[in-house]
Amino acid sequence: MAENDKKIVFSGVQPSGNLTLGNYLGAIKNFSRFSEDYKTFYCVVDLHAITVRQVPAELRKRTYETLALYMACGLDPEKNTLFVQSHVPQHAELGWILDCYTMFGELSRMTQFKDKSAKNAQNINAGLFTYPALMAADILLYQTDIVPVGIDQKQHLELARDVAARFNLIYSDTFKIPEGYIPTDTMKIMSLQEPTAKMSKSDPNENAVIRILDSKDDVMRKFKRAVTDSETSVRYSEDKPGVSNLMTIYRAFTGKTFEEIEREFDGKGYGDFKLAVGEACADGLKDVRDEFARLMQDKAYLEAVMKKGAEEAYGYARRTMSKVRRKIGFVN
Ligand code: TYM
Repeated sequence: MAENDKKIVFSGVQPSGNLTLGNYLGAIKNFSRFSEDYKTFYCVVDLHAITVRQVPAELRKRTYETLALYMACGLDPEKNTLFVQSHVPQHAELGWILDCYTMFGELSRMTQFKDKSAKNAQNINAGLFTYPALMAADILLYQTDIVPVGIDQKQHLELARDVAARFNLIYSDTFKIPEGYIPTDTMKIMSLQEPTAKMSKSDPNENAVIRILDSKDDVMRKFKRAVTDSETSVRYSEDKPGVSNLMTIYRAFTGKTFEEIEREFDGKGYGDFKLAVGEACADGLKDVRDEFARLMQDKAYLEAVMKKGAEEAYGYARRTMSKVRRKIGFVN
């Protein structure tokens, strides 16, 4: 297909912590399925990360790491535009503009804002509040068709669609209205310690979170300690959130169905099951870990990828921005 006819895919990950199995199964693992037939932009969203206080040296390191992880998870920089958000200034520019087309009431309803402001009561800054308008800018800058994300981003995505539609209504067609791509089987990986809550990068309890780069020993230990329930049967059910979450993870790595998994562990206890989930997950992530370690040795290469990505992204972003500026009435 000609480059210009390809549909556009955009997604982003915050370099705000060591990435989790949730980030992997809910988002990054799915990114590469678009590489061949779509024009894909995958961004390390550092502007978003500073809505929560970051240690500068760590933010810098994690920015490299997140880019390296994208590649370790199978994203070829020749086939995907991989870049860092703050390297393309139009994100901040359009972010501000969209702030002026996003309603206070809409932002007040965002559950992520409510959660994050409860967790960061000392630093409820304006950026945390307007975060979804910046995310809308990320998406709309590239005239994106499809946004692959986990279910926790659905509300933000709907806001991006509403803001785009509002802008288009005022000024005539300017932005493409994007669609989400939310994988039904892995859209919400749960905490291993509190399986009714999302697995989250910033969880202070390390046992609750599998990191993509955890060693096999760590993965095995965390699954061994995973919270289940007082029964013994491996069965998928809403009233068994711990076991169901482990089954979801096991299914993602083995390709087995829930029925096959139930049969495989029929008559066996949770101990055997947890061991098998740990093995499947640690083995499934081994190639990612190895490739990540290799890529992190070569900072100059990562910088070259960032630079090339930013230049490519800039070309697309500039086109949308000049349209936006003209429609709003800014003097060129
Ligand atoms: P972030 O950095 O929190 O998460 C990155 C991606 O991982 C998904 N995810 C999960 N999926 C399943 N189960 C989980 N437990 C889990 N935890 C995280 C998220 O849904 C996300 O897809 N606001 C975004 C970053 C962003 C963005 C964008 C995404 C900024 N601009 C534009 C798409 C398009 C965020 O905080 O993701």
